Amino acid sequence: MGTSMGRMEGKVALVTGGAEGIGATVGRMIVEQGGSVMLCDVQIDKAKALADELGDSADACQLDVRDLDQWHAAVKATTDRFGKINVLCNIAGISEPGNVVDGALDVWERTIDINLNGPYYGCRAALPAMETNGEPGAIVNIGSMIAMRAASFVAAYSASKAGLLGLTRSIALDCAERGVPIRANMVHPGAIRTPMYNRYKFSGADEPENIERDFAATHPMNRIGEPAEVAKAVVFLASDDASFTTGVDFTVDGGGSIRS
Ligand SMILES: NC(=O)c1ccc[n+]([C@@H]2O[C@H](COP(=O)([O-])OP(=O)(O)OC[C@H]3O[C@@H](n4cnc5c(N)ncnc54)[C@H](O)[C@@H]3O)[C@@H](O)[C@H]2O)c1
Repeated sequence: MGTSMGRMEGKVALVTGGAEGIGATVGRMIVEQGGSVMLCDVQIDKAKALADELGDSADACQLDVRDLDQWHAAVKATTDRFGKINVLCNIAGISEPGNVVDGALDVWERTIDINLNGPYYGCRAALPAMETNGEPGAIVNIGSMIAMRAASFVAAYSASKAGLLGLTRSIALDCAERGVPIRANMVHPGAIRTPMYNRYKFSGADEPENIERDFAATHPMNRIGEPAEVAKAVVFLASDDASFTTGVDFTVDGGGSIRS
């Protein structure tokens, strides 16, 4: 695919978690596919460095997704810079271990704040601006295989991603029922090779190769996924190629969510 033509031609996207991992890969792919992107992250220096590398079609903006005021500022920065906003990719997220009783209380609060409240604030702030341009638009939220198959050692994470699935479906219905041409869908990754994954792999809980083997084994395809494999699904759902698809969740998990 060339750089001037592509699936995201004419689209302006706001991507959270755009500094590294899946969000950075999505941001890069949006530009490769002819779109423009505002990379939003708490790690503003990394987001800026990527935006500089991607050129005029990319910019970066400081955003902590827990803060609705910062969300309004990020949406305004996007429309000021690129003239409009068509796509919102809620990709920023955290994963910290913790069981229900033994886990730290602040893990629960932080996880719900970032993984669930964050996308809610984002949709609340961005939807009015997405609607005013009258063009087709899309919201893509990042869930997890864990939204479908909860895991005991990540109670808050399981709940946050399952909650986000309900929010995604509610927004899909809301837009469709109001006749607004904005779709809302979700992508559920399995274990994907990003800084988040590496924090588990090199946590010291076991030899890194054992941890890798165990994570790979949760997927019938028996390997770790790559960020680009997730990004391709996100960009498809963000694009007009998915024009009659709303309220779905799409797994990119090597078969992990259907294993017995
Ligand atoms: N990597 C995996 O194995 C995996 C599996 C399933 C789901 N996911 C989901 O994919 C998404 C991206 O994960 P990743 O692996 O790229 O993670 P990552 O940790 O590698 O990158 C996450 C990015 O989000 C940013 N971020 C964190 N908190 C933020 C906040 N409060 N406000 C703004 N930005 C914030 C970080 O600075 C970072 O740039 C997350 O929602 C995660 O839950 C990842």
